Amino acid sequence: MMLLHKLRQLGRAVKWRRQVAQAVSTQLSLLEDPDALVLGNLSPTDEARLTELVQRAAAHDGPIVEFGTLFGITTRLIAAPARPGQRVITIDNFSWNPFGLPPAVHERFARGVLRTELAEGRVELWVGDSAAYRNGDRGPVPALVFLDADHSYAAVRDEIAWARALGVPIICGHDYGVARFGVTRAVDEAFGKGGVAVGGTVWSWERQA
Ligand SMILES: C[S@@+](CC[C@H](N)C(=O)[O-])C[C@H]1O[C@@H](n2cnc3c(N)ncnc32)[C@H](O)[C@@H]1O
Repeated sequence: MMLLHKLRQLGRAVKWRRQVAQAVSTQLSLLEDPDALVLGNLSPTDEARLTELVQRAAAHDGPIVEFGTLFGITTRLIAAPARPGQRVITIDNFSWNPFGLPPAVHERFARGVLRTELAEGRVELWVGDSAAYRNGDRGPVPALVFLDADHSYAAVRDEIAWARALGVPIICGHDYGVARFGVTRAVDEAFGKGGVAVGGTVWSWERQA
Protein backbone atom coordinates (compact mmCIF):
# COMPACT_ATOMS: atom_id res chain seq x y z
CA MET A 1 0.00 0.00 0.00
CA MET A 2 2.75 2.36 1.09
CA LEU A 3 4.88 1.34 -1.88
CA LEU A 4 1.98 1.93 -4.28
CA HIS A 5 1.46 5.40 -2.82
CA LYS A 6 5.16 6.21 -3.18
CA LEU A 7 5.18 4.99 -6.79
CA ARG A 8 2.14 7.16 -7.57
CA GLN A 9 3.88 10.16 -6.03
CA LEU A 10 6.96 9.43 -8.09
CA GLY A 11 4.84 9.25 -11.24
CA ARG A 12 3.30 12.62 -10.40
CA ALA A 13 6.72 14.14 -9.71
CA VAL A 14 7.90 12.96 -13.14
CA LYS A 15 4.75 14.26 -14.83
CA TRP A 16 5.13 17.69 -13.19
CA ARG A 17 8.95 17.72 -13.17
CA ARG A 18 9.30 21.26 -14.53
CA GLN A 19 7.06 22.73 -11.81
CA VAL A 20 8.63 20.54 -9.12
CA ALA A 21 12.13 21.57 -10.25
CA GLN A 22 11.15 25.25 -9.96
CA ALA A 23 9.78 24.79 -6.44
CA VAL A 24 12.78 22.77 -5.30
CA SER A 25 15.25 25.25 -6.80
CA THR A 26 13.57 28.15 -4.98
CA GLN A 27 13.40 26.20 -1.74
CA LEU A 28 17.07 25.17 -1.91
CA SER A 29 18.18 28.76 -2.59
CA LEU A 30 16.18 30.05 0.38
CA LEU A 31 17.37 27.29 2.71
CA GLU A 32 20.95 28.24 1.87
CA ASP A 33 20.31 31.99 2.08
CA PRO A 34 16.96 33.33 3.35
CA ASP A 35 17.76 36.69 1.70
CA ALA A 36 18.43 35.20 -1.75
CA LEU A 37 16.64 37.22 -4.41
CA VAL A 38 14.82 34.27 -5.96
CA LEU A 39 11.21 35.17 -5.16
CA GLY A 40 10.97 37.68 -8.01
CA ASN A 41 10.07 40.64 -5.83
CA LEU A 42 12.03 43.79 -4.94
CA SER A 43 14.81 44.35 -2.39
CA PRO A 44 14.25 47.06 0.27
CA THR A 45 16.51 49.46 -1.72
CA ASP A 46 14.51 48.78 -4.89
CA GLU A 47 11.25 49.32 -3.01
CA ALA A 48 12.42 52.69 -1.66
CA ARG A 49 13.42 53.82 -5.15
CA LEU A 50 10.13 52.74 -6.70
CA THR A 51 8.17 54.49 -3.96
CA GLU A 52 9.97 57.77 -4.79
CA LEU A 53 9.10 57.38 -8.45
CA VAL A 54 5.43 56.66 -7.66
CA GLN A 55 5.32 59.79 -5.50
CA ARG A 56 6.66 61.81 -8.43
CA ALA A 57 4.07 60.23 -10.73
CA ALA A 58 1.37 62.02 -8.69
CA ALA A 59 2.26 65.15 -10.67
CA HIS A 60 1.14 63.49 -13.91
CA ASP A 61 -2.28 62.51 -15.22
CA GLY A 62 -3.08 58.92 -16.05
CA PRO A 63 -2.77 55.60 -14.29
CA ILE A 64 0.31 53.74 -13.10
CA VAL A 65 0.94 50.59 -15.12
CA GLU A 66 2.95 47.66 -13.81
CA PHE A 67 3.99 44.84 -16.14
CA GLY A 68 4.48 41.71 -14.00
CA THR A 69 2.15 41.36 -11.01
CA LEU A 70 3.55 38.09 -9.68
CA PHE A 71 1.84 37.95 -6.23
CA GLY A 72 0.89 41.63 -6.05
CA ILE A 73 3.40 42.56 -3.36
CA THR A 74 4.92 45.36 -5.42
CA THR A 75 1.49 46.29 -6.78
CA ARG A 76 0.42 47.06 -3.21
CA LEU A 77 3.63 49.01 -2.63
CA ILE A 78 2.79 51.12 -5.70
CA ALA A 79 -0.87 51.58 -4.78
CA ALA A 80 -0.15 52.84 -1.25
CA PRO A 81 1.63 56.13 -2.13
CA ALA A 82 -0.23 56.67 -5.43
CA ARG A 83 -2.27 59.88 -5.64
CA PRO A 84 -5.91 59.29 -4.55
CA GLY A 85 -7.86 58.46 -7.67
CA GLN A 86 -4.74 57.42 -9.60
CA ARG A 87 -5.48 53.85 -10.60
CA VAL A 88 -2.85 51.12 -10.75
CA ILE A 89 -3.20 48.67 -13.64
CA THR A 90 -1.13 45.53 -13.21
CA ILE A 91 -0.62 43.03 -16.02
CA ASP A 92 0.34 39.38 -15.80
CA ASN A 93 -0.10 36.28 -17.93
CA PHE A 94 0.76 34.08 -14.92
CA SER A 95 3.44 32.25 -16.89
CA TRP A 96 6.05 32.20 -14.10
CA ASN A 97 6.24 32.10 -10.32
CA PRO A 98 9.00 30.89 -8.00
CA PHE A 99 6.97 27.96 -6.65
CA GLY A 100 5.88 26.36 -9.92
CA LEU A 101 2.21 26.99 -9.05
CA PRO A 102 -0.27 26.36 -11.87
CA PRO A 103 -1.42 29.62 -13.54
CA ALA A 104 -4.94 29.48 -12.05
CA VAL A 105 -3.60 29.00 -8.51
CA HIS A 106 -1.01 31.72 -9.08
CA GLU A 107 -3.74 34.14 -10.22
CA ARG A 108 -5.96 33.24 -7.24
CA PHE A 109 -3.05 33.88 -4.90
CA ALA A 110 -2.37 37.31 -6.45
CA ARG A 111 -6.07 38.23 -6.30
CA GLY A 112 -6.07 37.26 -2.63
CA VAL A 113 -3.09 39.47 -1.86
CA LEU A 114 -4.72 42.34 -3.78
CA ARG A 115 -8.30 41.77 -2.57
CA THR A 116 -8.68 45.11 -0.76
CA GLU A 117 -7.17 47.19 -3.55
CA LEU A 118 -9.22 45.33 -6.19
CA ALA A 119 -12.45 45.71 -4.21
CA GLU A 120 -11.82 49.43 -3.75
CA GLY A 121 -11.08 49.86 -7.45
CA ARG A 122 -7.62 51.25 -6.76
CA VAL A 123 -5.99 48.34 -8.62
CA GLU A 124 -7.08 46.61 -11.81
CA LEU A 125 -5.58 43.20 -12.61
CA TRP A 126 -5.35 42.69 -16.37
CA VAL A 127 -4.74 39.02 -17.14
CA GLY A 128 -2.86 38.39 -20.36
CA ASP A 129 0.32 38.93 -22.25
CA SER A 130 2.21 42.20 -22.13
CA ALA A 131 2.09 42.45 -25.95
CA ALA A 132 -1.68 41.91 -26.00
CA TYR A 133 -2.13 44.70 -23.46
CA ARG A 134 0.13 47.03 -25.40
CA ASN A 135 -1.62 46.27 -28.68
CA GLY A 136 -4.99 47.43 -27.37
CA ASP A 137 -6.39 50.93 -26.95
CA ARG A 138 -5.94 51.43 -23.21
CA GLY A 139 -7.23 54.94 -22.62
CA PRO A 140 -5.23 57.73 -20.99
CA VAL A 141 -1.44 57.79 -21.28
CA PRO A 142 0.04 56.30 -18.08
CA ALA A 143 1.82 58.61 -15.61
CA LEU A 144 4.34 55.87 -14.88
CA VAL A 145 5.13 52.49 -16.37
CA PHE A 146 7.05 49.91 -14.32
CA LEU A 147 8.54 47.05 -16.34
CA ASP A 148 9.02 43.76 -14.48
CA ALA A 149 7.47 41.00 -16.61
CA ASP A 150 9.47 39.15 -19.28
CA HIS A 151 13.11 40.13 -18.69
CA SER A 152 14.38 39.18 -22.14
CA TYR A 153 16.04 41.85 -24.28
CA ALA A 154 13.33 41.82 -26.97
CA ALA A 155 10.46 42.02 -24.49
CA VAL A 156 11.95 44.94 -22.54
CA ARG A 157 12.94 46.72 -25.78
CA ASP A 158 9.37 46.48 -27.06
CA GLU A 159 7.83 47.62 -23.78
CA ILE A 160 10.14 50.64 -23.64
CA ALA A 161 9.39 51.50 -27.27
CA TRP A 162 5.64 51.33 -26.53
CA ALA A 163 5.93 53.57 -23.47
CA ARG A 164 8.09 56.12 -25.32
CA ALA A 165 5.75 56.23 -28.31
CA LEU A 166 2.86 56.99 -25.94
CA GLY A 167 4.82 59.78 -24.25
CA VAL A 168 4.80 58.23 -20.76
CA PRO A 169 6.60 60.74 -18.49
CA ILE A 170 8.17 58.20 -16.10
CA ILE A 171 9.42 54.88 -17.47
CA CYS A 172 11.17 52.52 -15.10
CA GLY A 173 11.80 48.87 -14.44
CA HIS A 174 13.45 46.21 -12.36
CA ASP A 175 16.64 44.16 -12.63
CA TYR A 176 18.99 46.65 -14.26
CA GLY A 177 22.55 45.32 -14.05
CA VAL A 178 21.47 41.70 -13.52
CA ALA A 179 23.69 39.86 -15.98
CA ARG A 180 21.39 36.92 -16.74
CA PHE A 181 18.62 39.19 -18.04
CA GLY A 182 18.36 41.29 -21.20
CA VAL A 183 17.12 44.33 -19.28
CA THR A 184 20.40 46.31 -19.20
CA ARG A 185 21.03 45.93 -22.92
CA ALA A 186 17.49 47.01 -23.82
CA VAL A 187 17.61 50.02 -21.46
CA ASP A 188 21.09 51.18 -22.55
CA GLU A 189 20.12 50.83 -26.19
CA ALA A 190 16.95 52.89 -25.72
CA PHE A 191 18.31 55.66 -23.49
CA GLY A 192 22.08 55.48 -24.08
CA LYS A 193 24.65 54.25 -21.57
CA GLY A 194 24.22 56.33 -18.39
CA GLY A 195 20.93 57.68 -19.77
CA VAL A 196 18.87 56.38 -16.86
CA ALA A 197 19.04 56.81 -13.09
CA VAL A 198 19.63 53.61 -11.14
CA GLY A 199 18.72 52.93 -7.51
CA GLY A 200 19.42 49.35 -6.40
CA THR A 201 18.41 47.47 -9.52
CA VAL A 202 15.54 49.84 -10.39
CA TRP A 203 16.26 51.92 -13.48
CA SER A 204 14.27 55.01 -14.37
CA TRP A 205 13.94 57.64 -17.05
CA GLU A 206 11.94 60.83 -16.58
CA ARG A 207 10.80 63.24 -19.24
CA GLN A 208 12.30 66.68 -18.72
CA ALA A 209 9.71 69.42 -18.10
C1 LIG B 1 9.61 38.92 -11.71
S1 LIG B 1 7.92 38.61 -11.67
C2 LIG B 1 7.23 40.19 -11.26
C3 LIG B 1 7.55 40.62 -9.87
C4 LIG B 1 6.66 41.70 -9.32
N1 LIG B 1 6.71 42.91 -10.11
C5 LIG B 1 7.10 42.01 -7.90
O1 LIG B 1 7.93 42.91 -7.71
O2 LIG B 1 6.63 41.32 -6.97
C6 LIG B 1 7.52 38.48 -13.36
C7 LIG B 1 6.03 38.29 -13.62
O3 LIG B 1 5.81 38.61 -14.98
C8 LIG B 1 4.92 37.68 -15.55
N2 LIG B 1 5.21 37.62 -16.99
C9 LIG B 1 6.28 37.07 -17.60
N3 LIG B 1 6.21 37.26 -18.92
C10 LIG B 1 5.07 37.96 -19.16
C11 LIG B 1 4.44 38.45 -20.33
N4 LIG B 1 4.98 38.29 -21.55
N5 LIG B 1 3.27 39.12 -20.20
C12 LIG B 1 2.70 39.30 -18.98
N6 LIG B 1 3.27 38.86 -17.84
C13 LIG B 1 4.42 38.19 -17.92
C14 LIG B 1 5.17 36.37 -14.80
O4 LIG B 1 4.03 35.55 -14.82
C15 LIG B 1 5.54 36.88 -13.39
O5 LIG B 1 4.43 36.89 -12.55
